[in-house]
Amino acid sequence: MSKTRILTGITTSGIPHLGNYAGAIRPAIESSKADNVESFFFLADYHALIKKHDPQMVRESVRSVAATWLASGLDPNRVTFYRQTDIPEITELTWILTTITAKGLMNRAHAYKAAVQENVETNAADPDKGVEMGLFSYPILMAADIIMFNGEKIPVGKDQIQHIEMARDIAQRFNFLYGETFAMPEAVVDESAMIIPGLDGRKMSKSYGNTIPLFEGEKKFRKLINKIKTNSLEPGEPKDPEGCTLFAIYSAFTDEAAQAEMRQKYANGIGWGDMKKFLFEFLNEELKDKRNEYDRLMADPAELDRALAIGAEKARAIATPFLADIRNKVGIGPISG
Ligand code: TRP
Repeated sequence: MSKTRILTGITTSGIPHLGNYAGAIRPAIESSKADNVESFFFLADYHALIKKHDPQMVRESVRSVAATWLASGLDPNRVTFYRQTDIPEITELTWILTTITAKGLMNRAHAYKAAVQENVETNAADPDKGVEMGLFSYPILMAADIIMFNGEKIPVGKDQIQHIEMARDIAQRFNFLYGETFAMPEAVVDESAMIIPGLDGRKMSKSYGNTIPLFEGEKKFRKLINKIKTNSLEPGEPKDPEGCTLFAIYSAFTDEAAQAEMRQKYANGIGWGDMKKFLFEFLNEELKDKRNEYDRLMADPAELDRALAIGAEKARAIATPFLADIRNKVGIGPISG
């Protein structure tokens, strides 16, 4: 039986929050346990260099994201779990793909278009003001990430669908020019994936500054939960769980029976203070062991390096011979053939 290759990357430009966990990390680890799949999860640290130039932030994020995956139950012996920058073949493939990618295709990328749009709106002299080549050609690096390992199913957020389509276009063009080489990747967007709201009720997102870090220390964690926005209904007044941030977060961690019970408490007029206290205690219990493991790993960076080294070895065992084949196909293999 041939296994389906699932591949996804997380840009190391922040500290994982509750939304990353419930929406991406937890389902990815769950899916990796099936027998008919082969999973490739990696830290996209080259992507983290785009737009922000903050070495301290990148270093911290790499450490935190690696510790988060491992503490959340990822098994580095089962999954190929690696750091993008440990696989030099990816960057080499990026250049080869750059030579066959139409500039016009990159012109259409949302992130680039948004930057140009902003310049136009603010009457900048140059529509490309502040746009670096890393941002412009980011989809090519992402295509290399994927097709280097013949990734088939690519779990991503909606905002990334276009990049997967571009990866297909680029892979297709390579196959057309040099012969059948790459599998066609497909985006997998889990429509039912939980969109966790943040402190202000909008989607929890680093860019909104409304996140609750997943493994925040207990005290700060309680404080943040107390900061979640609610309405002004008094204790005793019936409340609507729909559209309530506290209920939405609770739902991301519970089954329907627990949710039904909670709806009843809302109908009975649970006070917001009590609900926040309940939610804190519940999540704290839910995450406590993982947080201890996270803290342990954060204090032992050598163990993180060892786990990533296992992944790098497995990933390069695939990438090295595959890239040799690709180099041959484009005409830069050994002269002796
Ligand atoms: N660009 C993706 C994001 O910001 C992260 C990423 C990099 C990725 N390379 C990838 C996702 C390859 C899937 C496959 O979310």
